[in-house]
Amino acid sequence: MPKLFHLRASPRQESVSAAGAEAFISRFKETHAGWDIDTLDVWRETLPNYDIQAVDAKYARQSGRPLTKQQSDAQAELERMVVRLSLADRVVISTPMWNFGIPYKFKQWIDMIVQPGLTFTFDPKTGYRPLLKDRPVLIILASGSDFVTGMNRGRTDLATPYLREVLGFIGFSNPHFVSIGPTNGSPDTVSAARELAFRRLRELAPTF
Ligand SMILES: Cc1cc2nc3c(=O)[nH]c(=O)nc-3n(C[C@H](O)[C@H](O)[C@H](O)COP(=O)(O)O)c2cc1C
Repeated sequence: MPKLFHLRASPRQESVSAAGAEAFISRFKETHAGWDIDTLDVWRETLPNYDIQAVDAKYARQSGRPLTKQQSDAQAELERMVVRLSLADRVVISTPMWNFGIPYKFKQWIDMIVQPGLTFTFDPKTGYRPLLKDRPVLIILASGSDFVTGMNRGRTDLATPYLREVLGFIGFSNPHFVSIGPTNGSPDTVSAARELAFRRLRELAPTF
């Protein structure tokens, strides 16, 4: 059964980014019969800590040292997270902008899945090579301010370039971004921004 993986990165019940993902996914289901939707809510599921065991496992593997039992256990948890992603034919990420970047729980997931030998390789002669098969990826980014140009009042959206870089690094070469913002401010402006983004999401779903 083909699979869509949805990573939900907002903890809020009334999350705008999650509502955007729901609008997209409900249209996607209408046009993609028989697809399985796997949702990872990084706030509700307990993510393994990316702690000293996991970090040391990474360094041990990079230098070809055998892993301790604790390091192997930590490594096995990371591998499960990677498998869950790599089984997906489509990827949807819904996230708020937090302090120009992304929520720390989402970053925790990224630190877990960006692993040598699992999602990328390095060869001193040829450099870095992604290991995941390319596939359609949609990122729905909600922000209090309007970052449609990448800037707002002299401040920079760092979430979009960061996500483009890190996802490209593991093999997702062309993520599609839909921004929803501003989500704060005058009700008319907020609702116009939301309507526009939701319309784009519903239009995108049938051919995603
Ligand atoms: C901790 C935190 C940091 C935030 N930082 C920013 C920011 O840097 N820029 C911005 O435009 N909005 C910022 N916001 C506002 C959120 O991006 C906005 O409320 C958005 O709609 C949240 O997405 P959600 O509704 O999916 O949770 C921040 C909100 C929180 C809670």
